[in-house]
Amino acid sequence: MNDVFETLESEVRGYSRSWPAEFATASGAVQTTIDGSEYLDFFSGAGALNYGHNNPAVMEPLIDYLQSGAVLHSLDMKTPAKRRFLETFERLILKPRALDYKVMFPGPTGTNTVEAALKLARKVTGRQHILSFTNAFHGMTLGSLSVTGNSMKRQGAGIPLTNASKIPYDDYFDGETTDFLWLERVLADSGSGVDRPAAIIVETVQGEGGLRAARAEWLRGLAELCKRYEVLLIVDDVQAGCGRTGSFFSFEEAGIVPDIVCLSKSISGSGLPMALTLFKPELDVWSPGEHNGTFRGNNPAFVTATAALETFWADDSFQNRVADTSAALHARLGEIADSVEGASVRGRGMLAGLLFEDPAHAERVAGEAYRLGLLVETSGPEDEVVKIMPPLTISSAELQRGLDILTTAVRTVVRSPELATA
Ligand SMILES: Cc1ncc(COP(=O)(O)O)c(C=O)c1O
Repeated sequence: MNDVFETLESEVRGYSRSWPAEFATASGAVQTTIDGSEYLDFFSGAGALNYGHNNPAVMEPLIDYLQSGAVLHSLDMKTPAKRRFLETFERLILKPRALDYKVMFPGPTGTNTVEAALKLARKVTGRQHILSFTNAFHGMTLGSLSVTGNSMKRQGAGIPLTNASKIPYDDYFDGETTDFLWLERVLADSGSGVDRPAAIIVETVQGEGGLRAARAEWLRGLAELCKRYEVLLIVDDVQAGCGRTGSFFSFEEAGIVPDIVCLSKSISGSGLPMALTLFKPELDVWSPGEHNGTFRGNNPAFVTATAALETFWADDSFQNRVADTSAALHARLGEIADSVEGASVRGRGMLAGLLFEDPAHAERVAGEAYRLGLLVETSGPEDEVVKIMPPLTISSAELQRGLDILTTAVRTVVRSPELATA
């Protein structure tokens, strides 16, 4: 058969190779193929679907908006949809957390907000160098790639990736080295030959780099160090933000206030493209139009984003529910890991992973899970971690059903007879 996905679409395609089904409809945590097969989705659009597929809370306002004749595309012009989003974001997210940030709309993707953050940090400080962490992932454009760890992705740049260096993420040396030993020393030593960086960019949980989660005290140490040496701290919350780790921002648990925050993926609440770069007001040194982009004004995304904030973040009830779901998830993942030699649980909240000693196991578990009707992907430099990322809105029954499938897949792959499904 002449399959246009194979004959016409570029070789660069990825997910459609691991999951060759053609998905036609989706609702909540379930995706249905053109021939009616159902898959439980523990992937959530790589974090763009925290509230599940086609959540009625965001779809109904979107449909009304689309039928109303309202503006869809507006670059950075004023629209009522954008006004409502800004007012709601200030009222429900920034004010209750005492966060004094200006809001910038970069282009609508994760890498767009990272590029804006790096550019702003360089402009504010007048310094060029950026530090980022081992196994970091920040996106595919050149600036974001320069702060990304993965060698295969970096190689794709085709030119030298400059003005950025990597430093060890939390626990990179398995707890054997004092945190920030090298960094502290070279920043204090004017003879170290290490230029003071404009910024340090960090993910609180490394979504693509293997689900390592930084400890709260490590993040506090990093924030303190940045403050002491007047280096800007950028938290890339593109994947870990919007409730994924339990609170709206993933850094809330650590009690730190980054200078710059990158948000995208689930900020629209619907899977529509949208991104924000947040920064302290004194960093707002942009000249008008100095950084721009045609798709900053995606009004349907503003509408769904506002609806998501109003539905899920007006009080603590959603956050409390996510805490319960996340506890149930980690309890079952812990059981699976305990029954497999060398396996362990990684991540925080609903951004979790199962690390296998033999990297081939993770890929095979993901493949077997797909065969049984569950979408999970792998993460990490060797694809050694099965990444578990259900919608935050998943029901308890669906969560357990997905974890049953995962348990069966793990048992099949590692032949661990003691792994029983619930
Ligand atoms: C932490 C982080 N930053 C940036 C990006 C890039 O986002 P996008 O693919 O929308 O450019 C990703 C994507 O996975 C991410 O996880």
